[in-house]
Amino acid sequence: MLNQAVKAAITAVGSYVPKETLTNQDLERMVDTSDEWIQSRTGIVQRHIAKNPLHPTSYLAIEAAKNLIQKKNVDPSSIDLVLVATITPDMNIAATAPYVATQIGASNAFAFDLQAACSGFLYGMSVASAYIRSGQYKKILLIGADKMSSIVDYSDRKTCVIFGDGAGAVLMEKSTNGFGYENDFLRSDGSGREFLYMKSGGSLHPINATTFAEGGHYLKQEGRTVFKYAVQNMSLAAKEVMKKNNLTSESIDYLVPHQANQRILEATRKNIGIEDKKVLMNIQKYGNTTAATLPLVLADYESTFKAGDKILFAAFGGGFTWGAAYLTWNYDQST
Ligand code: UT7
Repeated sequence: MLNQAVKAAITAVGSYVPKETLTNQDLERMVDTSDEWIQSRTGIVQRHIAKNPLHPTSYLAIEAAKNLIQKKNVDPSSIDLVLVATITPDMNIAATAPYVATQIGASNAFAFDLQAACSGFLYGMSVASAYIRSGQYKKILLIGADKMSSIVDYSDRKTCVIFGDGAGAVLMEKSTNGFGYENDFLRSDGSGREFLYMKSGGSLHPINATTFAEGGHYLKQEGRTVFKYAVQNMSLAAKEVMKKNNLTSESIDYLVPHQANQRILEATRKNIGIEDKKVLMNIQKYGNTTAATLPLVLADYESTFKAGDKILFAAFGGGFTWGAAYLTWNYDQST
């Protein structure tokens, strides 16, 4: 049984995006697209891309973790668990999280990867919260990190304009002021895997010359279908969480949605009935960074949040996976 009196809180945030950018104008030179199309259909102006082959997902995750550690003066040896949500691990085996943990000096931690695509960070918050509330572990470093440029086909205009690279990290530990992760509504539907996937490299389609020639190592998606399910399911999940917590669109301070596409966010916002100004967005700068979008929003808006702010999260991604969560923010950055 979880202890209802104990809550897990986010007590620190860190982030990292590579220096190099890929602008819509750059993409105009690579595929048959236009800045006008990309901005009006997605809201994206640029993305950050880790061009350095020596900077895989672990590098992004380590930099985000270091940023957090340095900002809040965290002792890495006090961390119990390092959880990395990603769909672009450095390698399929070994997992990325143990390497990240070792590199940041989390010498007393265990570590594992969590694969739930764009819902990875949301699921990760739920896992971290349950561990902390159970009393089993005290300090969890949750990182959402993806080097999407490593699986994007830059000759496919339907996918290459959307995705970017980045990482965000949060520290979750027992709340001391009553604010923290409240609860969530999480779901999945495996019949959706035909609409968003990377075919080869797993046990179903091991890589060989044929899968390689077919481009099976690239991410594929049926954008329109994903769009429809994303709006439907993020809206439904958010409404469930609002009902469970007696929240109204007025009482919610911020909606932190997965940065999939500005039009998906707008349609979801309308369905929930939340005011425009409460929806936090940074998709224009980073594109869709998959597991990193939610913590990158937290990092960008950290200085705006006040202790007690009511934050509703919503995400949808490959699998399909989706959900919503309610969190009361734990601290003012200035204190
Ligand atoms: O994070 C979870 C994972 N992914 C998502 O959430 C993505 C969800 N889907 C989307 O964001 C959108 O579906 C896309 C941005 C991928 C595409 O936007 P859309 O408005 O759904 O476009 P569409 O796929 O319906 O295509 C409309 C037209 C097509 O041309 P025709 O067939 O009407 O002549 C496409 O070929 O737009 C064309 N098109 C493009 N044109 C210029 C598709 N991509 C591009 C492009 N530039 N980059």
